[in-house]
Amino acid sequence: MTVAAAVEARGLRRQFPLDGGGTVTALDDVDLHIAPGEIVAVVGRSGAGKSTLLNLIGAIDRGYEGELTVFGQELRRLSERELARFRNRQIGFVFQSFNLLPGLTVGDNVMLPASFGADMPDVLVRRRAHHLLDEVGLGDRFNQPPLQLSGGERQRVAIARALLLEPPLLVCDEPTGSLDTATADQILQLFREIREKRGTTLVMVTHDPAVARSADRLVRLERGRIVGTTLEAP
Ligand SMILES: Nc1ncnc2c1ncn2[C@@H]1O[C@H](COP(=O)(O)OP(=O)(O)OP(=O)(O)O)[C@@H](O)[C@H]1O
Ligand SMILES: [Mg+2]
Repeated sequence: MTVAAAVEARGLRRQFPLDGGGTVTALDDVDLHIAPGEIVAVVGRSGAGKSTLLNLIGAIDRGYEGELTVFGQELRRLSERELARFRNRQIGFVFQSFNLLPGLTVGDNVMLPASFGADMPDVLVRRRAHHLLDEVGLGDRFNQPPLQLSGGERQRVAIARALLLEPPLLVCDEPTGSLDTATADQILQLFREIREKRGTTLVMVTHDPAVARSADRLVRLERGRIVGTTLEAP
């Protein structure tokens, strides 16, 4: 089945209750269409709603109003269990803090998504993990603990992990936030290769204008609303 949109949002709104009453509107009236295979950079000041948007698109949070479909699926209609399954199958999430488990080796971290009910044989999981670590230039680190890796290396392990089950949608919160320019370029090059090979859709938050320029399209948020598609700060 061909789906016309990877992400389709109409009048998307996310409010959070405040301690002591009242609400904060983190996203308001967001209309967004992301085509399959598109690379989209989400930019905007701190507090603008970028992570809130990523958590919704990434099927982590579904406390929204309005419409939000990912590959044609309205996320709010799914049960918790269905949502977890959808997330595991359709989405690779790269967190800014990498979220690697220090007690596991690099290889076991990369293979972790397969332990949540994926029906891929162990031997295939292991082969894919090795292959992905090769692809990110860390093929020789399989048995090492992540604490022995540099920040950029950990980031690449997190990306390999996000790709283990070949998700059609990759969602990254500041994937190059703590990287030098050369390593950030390596990561962006990897994203483009992954897109070419697998048609992966990529949505990433970034504060780096160079990273934003490398995307097909920009989405600029300001106080929870999409205000444009330019690089210049308002
Ligand atoms: N769970 C929550 N409860 C209450 N308010 C929240 C919650 N999550 C986000 N917010 C509020 O929503 C707004 C948007 O937050 P969000 O984390 O999306 O910003 P951001 O654009 O990612 O910022 P940064 O660049 O600093 O990461 C902020 O005002 C924030 O305080
Ligand atoms: Mg954020």
